[in-house]
Formats: sequence, structure tokens, C-alpha cells
Amino acid sequence: MNQIYLKMNNGLEIPQFGLGVCDIPKEITKDVCINAIKIGYRLIDTAHIYGNEREVGEAIKESGVDRKELFITSKIWPSEFRKAKEAVYEMLDRMGLDYIDLVLLHQQTGAYLKAYKALEELVEEGKVKSIGISNFESKKRLDKILSNAKICPQIHQIECHPFRQQHDLNNYTKDKGVLIESWFPLARGYKELMNNEIITSLKEKYHKTSAQIIIRWHIEEGYIVFPGTKSIEHLKENIDVFDFSFTKEEMDMLHTLDGKKKFNIMPLFLQGAFNTFQAWTILSKVK
Ligand SMILES: NC(=O)c1ccc[n+]([C@@H]2O[C@H](COP(=O)([O-])OP(=O)(O)OC[C@H]3O[C@@H](n4cnc5c(N)ncnc54)[C@H](OP(=O)(O)O)[C@@H]3O)[C@@H](O)[C@H]2O)c1
Repeated sequence: MNQIYLKMNNGLEIPQFGLGVCDIPKEITKDVCINAIKIGYRLIDTAHIYGNEREVGEAIKESGVDRKELFITSKIWPSEFRKAKEAVYEMLDRMGLDYIDLVLLHQQTGAYLKAYKALEELVEEGKVKSIGISNFESKKRLDKILSNAKICPQIHQIECHPFRQQHDLNNYTKDKGVLIESWFPLARGYKELMNNEIITSLKEKYHKTSAQIIIRWHIEEGYIVFPGTKSIEHLKENIDVFDFSFTKEEMDMLHTLDGKKKFNIMPLFLQGAFNTFQAWTILSKVK
């Protein structure tokens, strides 16, 4: 077995493990994705702002795997929220897809409620199968989505790794029936995490690598996880996490790592301006 499927609140299934392509240059994205699919990956997480949706789409076509077996996620940026439907039609066009499995609002800024309503309409049109949000760390904004949603979000994608476990927010969201996806699941390979003594003791016990121990932690927490990698060795290593599991005591030990490092540190009042700056500098170049 090299996959687990979780059921979302709309009855559809999502692979619990996959590949994130945030940092993969577009020149190599197609090859990395094709290699991943050959190895057994079935979920790919991209976004308009990553600049490689087109290459993910090419990989889907050239992979030789039935489209229905693959689960593809992308995200729209706040600068697109006022015209979210058009943004998703353009996304489908860039990717060469008739439908996409999951679309997320990438950030909690801008006209997010208007955009969420547009995503609901896209579900009705059959263009998008599932919808969700990302980075809604403001409980007020999260609640605004939850209380106004006609379709409850299926997914909340959030910074989450052993050094920032987000139990309060994640449990709150999970209680509403929303599944959690972890971004920066390996804390971007942060040395202090990879070489941490609790991680090291578990990797010695289970004859696994630090990355495998951390990925397994996400799986046992019930989170969907898609580490990013450009390397074929890491692609193979990261998916090899389905033949061991932790005891309750080991999970308790891993919980003690919480709080040691947070990467997403921008205060809410600066996020809107920063997102606009990123749209201006990055999105204008994405064809
Ligand atoms: N919603 C959001 O705002 C948001 C933000 C950030 C990320 N994300 C999503 O989350 C995905 C994952 O995050 P990420 O890629 O930024 O960070 P990550 O998965 O935590 O870490 C990626 C880094 O870890 C290294 N790595 C991967 N496998 C490894 C292994 N087995 N051993 C040692 N190092 C390894 C990679 O280098 P190599 O290439 O050398 O393997 C890369 O430098 C993204 O690709 C994206 O899809 C979403």
C-alpha cells in the first residue's frame, strides 16, 4: 500500500499523500510530476502564483494515468477574488482540464467571501469538484466563511509541521467537518527539525529517515500531506511511509515539539498589501 484515501464532507475521496510543487521551477515541473505519478503519487498541489499550473496539466496528460485516478488542487490569489469564476475558467484553460478536483482561496485577504460564493457556483456547474480555503488563521474570517457557506469547505490548508502543530485551529476546523492539509509539512527541511533528538530516536527505531518520520506524523494526525521535492530519491523516500506507525506514547512525544518555530509570521494588517505586491510582481508574469 502506498496511499490512504480520506472521505471529505461532500462524500468524495482525497488521497492523504501527494506532491506539492510550490518551489519547483516550471522548466522541470512536468518531469517531476510525471516521475511522481509513475512512482504512485496521485495528488498534486499547485497554485496560480506558483507559475507552473500549465506544466502540471501537461504532466497529467502525458502521465498515461486515467484522469479520474488523479486528484489535482490549485488555488486562486486574492487579486483574482473579485472575478473568481473567470480566474478558475482561465486556470482550467491553462491546465488543459475540463474540471479540477479542488480549488482553494489561497489567502484570507481581499474579497474572500465573494470569491467563495463564486467557487460554490463553480461546483454547481461541475467545473470544480471540491472547494476550500487556505491560511485562514484569523478565526473571525474563518467563521465568516463557515457561517455564510452554502457548501461547507471541504479543506483548510494551513502551515503545519511538528514545530507548529496548530492543534487549536485544526481541531476547531475539523469539528466543522473540514479536513486539514499541511503546508510546509517538513518545515522546508529546517535543520533543527530534521536533526531534532525525538525525530532522530524514532528514525533509528523504525529504520526510516527524518522526512519519513515527519510525514508519518502528519498521516497519523489525519492531515493531508504533500511535501515538495525536485529530487527523484526524495520522491521515492517520501512516499515510503505506509509500513509503520507510532505508539500513543510516541505521538505524545512528538506533540512536545509544538511551538518551536512558526514560518508564516506576517501580521494580518500587512497581509493584504503583501498579497497585492506578490500579485503585481509574480502573477503579471504567469501566462
Ligand atoms: N497554501 C499556502 O500558502 C502554501 C504555502 C507553502 C506551501 N504550500 C504547499 O505545500 C507544499 C509543501 O511545502 P514546501 O514544498 O514549501 O515545503 P516542505 O514540503 O516542508 O519542504 C520542501 C523542502 O524539503 C526538501 N525535502 C523534500 N523531501 C525531502 C527529504 N526526503 N529529505 C530531505 N529534504 C527533503 C526539499 O528539497 P529537495 O527538492 O532537495 O528534495 C525542499 O527544500 C508546497 O509545495 C505547496 O504545494 C502551500
